[in-house]
Amino acid sequence: MSLQVENLTIVYQTLHGDVHALENATFSLADGEIMGLAGESGCGKSTLCNSLILLVPPMRYVGGKVLLDGECLPLEDQKAMDAFRFRKISSIPQYAMNAMNPTRKIGLMIRELLQSRKVDADALMPELKRRLDLVELTQDVLDMYPFELSGGMKQRMVMVLSTLLNPSLLIADEVTSALDVSTQRAVANMLVEFRNREIVRGLIVISHDMSILYQITDSILIMYAGQLAEKASTDVIIKSPRHPYTRQLISSLPKVGVKYSEGRLKGIPGTPPLLLHPPQGCRFRERCPVAFEKCLQVPPFIEVEPGHSVACWRETADGA
Ligand SMILES: Nc1ncnc2c1ncn2[C@@H]1O[C@H](COP(=O)(O)OP(=O)(O)OP(=O)(O)O)[C@@H](O)[C@H]1O
Ligand code: SF4
Ligand SMILES: [Mg+2]
Repeated sequence: MSLQVENLTIVYQTLHGDVHALENATFSLADGEIMGLAGESGCGKSTLCNSLILLVPPMRYVGGKVLLDGECLPLEDQKAMDAFRFRKISSIPQYAMNAMNPTRKIGLMIRELLQSRKVDADALMPELKRRLDLVELTQDVLDMYPFELSGGMKQRMVMVLSTLLNPSLLIADEVTSALDVSTQRAVANMLVEFRNREIVRGLIVISHDMSILYQITDSILIMYAGQLAEKASTDVIIKSPRHPYTRQLISSLPKVGVKYSEGRLKGIPGTPPLLLHPPQGCRFRERCPVAFEKCLQVPPFIEVEPGHSVACWRETADGA
């Protein structure tokens, strides 16, 4: 698996104008990589991931391209995207747990889903049962309604469903956030197990919980206000980040293991800008303690050392 995202730019069309939710995102994911995606609420994490799956109004594609295993995803053509969705790229959307049809037993729901994708449901049943075993669900769940499952069971069911056809890339959007701590760990470990068993060959895990990301990811991508700020190996992001926002984000965590969504970022004065009229240049400028004149221009997201990219003029040769 390989994923390359190049200059991807997405807006939401609203009555008041375009919301600039993702600007020029450029990054890649290697075969087997589990990448965490983090940043304050509203910074564009779900937008980035949803645009790779289902780019429909009010979301609008502005530019850029995405290559999955060397193939260009037809992001603007939803009919053509059908060939990729679920089969090559799949997601567990934010709030997926509560989106299961309450009037259908789970087994029937799965059959209907597979039939709608023109997949032979009977042929897939033995594998479905093996996957249920893998996530420690009994086959009885197929005969149950979604409301009969606990939160953790539902989330594991959604994981099985979204990976049934062995997609190259799986995107998991806040899959652990509504669960208690021990269930969070179990679900997070299952994601790793799916990668280890090559059920999926690449994973993007969106989470507000840095301890979960620290536990299961190989790399972390930090976003701020619709722009990419920094990407590096998990160890580097946690122990020696270089972007001023990442530094403050990490240092504002009392210890690794605290969600940055709660009482977060006390150390960073101000709030993120509104994306309807984002500020010119680096969008972190107004909160950045080391901002200077050059920051009125958008800093490029460049590799400062192998595997470590930063978008900050202080980190580029001509910016300091
Ligand atoms: N349907 C929509 N219409 C208009 N603006 C939207 C829409 N959905 C999201 N946005 C805006 O786009 C920006 C990015 O939102 P997004 O949901 O991608 O953030 P996020 O990082 O996933 O946040 P969270 O951590 O809360 O899930 C925000 O400013 C948000 O208000
Ligand atoms: S580009 Fe400028 S404003 Fe943005 S993080 Fe770097 S120094 Fe701060
Ligand atoms: Mg989101």
